[in-house]
Amino acid sequence: MPHIDPERLLSDLRDLRSIGAQGKGVVRPAFSPKDMEARGWLKGRYEEAGLDATIDGVGNVIGRSRNPGKALLVGSHSDTQPTGGWLDGALGVIYGLEVVRALAADDATCHLAVDAVSFQDEESRFMGCLGSRSLTGTLSQEMEQRAVDHRGVTLAEALREAGLAGVPRQRLAPGRYAGFVEAHIEQGPDLEDSGRKIGVVSSIVGLRGIRFAFRGQQNHAGTTMMARRRDAASALYELAHRINQEFPQAAGERTVWTMGRLRIEPNAPSIVPGYAELDLQFRDASEAPLDAFEKIVARLVADMNARGGVSIEAVPSRTPIPPTRMDAGLQEHIARAAERHAPGRWQHMPSGAFHDAGYVSASLPSAMLFIPSIGGISHDFAEDSRDEDIVLGCQVLADAVASILAAANAAPGRNP
Ligand code: GLV
Ligand code: MN
Ligand code: MN
Repeated sequence: MPHIDPERLLSDLRDLRSIGAQGKGVVRPAFSPKDMEARGWLKGRYEEAGLDATIDGVGNVIGRSRNPGKALLVGSHSDTQPTGGWLDGALGVIYGLEVVRALAADDATCHLAVDAVSFQDEESRFMGCLGSRSLTGTLSQEMEQRAVDHRGVTLAEALREAGLAGVPRQRLAPGRYAGFVEAHIEQGPDLEDSGRKIGVVSSIVGLRGIRFAFRGQQNHAGTTMMARRRDAASALYELAHRINQEFPQAAGERTVWTMGRLRIEPNAPSIVPGYAELDLQFRDASEAPLDAFEKIVARLVADMNARGGVSIEAVPSRTPIPPTRMDAGLQEHIARAAERHAPGRWQHMPSGAFHDAGYVSASLPSAMLFIPSIGGISHDFAEDSRDEDIVLGCQVLADAVASILAAANAAPGRNP
């Protein structure tokens, strides 16, 4: 059985954290100088671990094993939210590196091929899971040309600034892999609440987004009587309220929706706003509630537009992410490793966050392992996990990887 090195693992996680650290959190959005510095650092670590490493043309860092036989791809992403936590993505990336080193140091596993990866822009600066879409061949030129960040920077400009224009892009080598395994913090409260240490992910949510533009008439806040106003912000508040009232009737147990970004123009206390924008995002593990939400939104917008005054336009704000199921065979390997190291203290569970494993699962058998998040907090500087949970999760992953690869190479051509 491979043994991970807890001190080496924690020290590499802390080194990665220091690149873009702000207080307890990290600011390392995709293609930023800090993101590219972290990718360069990681490439060096992959090489020290004996992998052939490259940063490809979308910024994916890929370390390929020189060992023959079926390989397993292991990793996550190292870009962060605009104000992100230190473990979201980073945990799975450094686990991948540590698993490579742990397997290489054990006579029973040193012949196994583990490739490590850090995908680019999982966190949606331009497009959620940009790097895994690229690696799996589902990133079209059209999608790329439309990709713009919230400041209006195009993807092409960001690639140029990051020094990636013209750099070759990698694709999954056909037949090379037995699968992909991504470890991650849970980012929710379920493991901590139930006192469990490991989550074996069964499914990953699908997600859609709608952007509303409200067009009214900017005017004086003292002289414009209420009946005459065409107040774009009031229309936004009304639509948001009606969404919050109507969505629960079509929602499943774990359906969620968020209105996390709005813009009001000109955003001044003495001016009736003439323009407003609102982003709505909704998620579920099945498509049905997402379809139902789209119908509700279309009805509410048609109803409010029929009244006149402020006009509302609704357009998709992002490429939808389809819900996905994780591979049952790979889940069993992770579950067995979890039972060995945390007997009775693991569970199967769905993921409410999306992950690169969702995209990769269309091309390769894919699975995920979660460790507890303190207080269930994530996408915030306060995000954290206990050292002992971080260490335990990596040991479970190392065992699972060894067992997946042993099975894949014992019966080539069969799923592990
Ligand atoms: C991924 O970071 C998500 O928003 O689920
Ligand atoms: Mn993540
Ligand atoms: Mn995230």
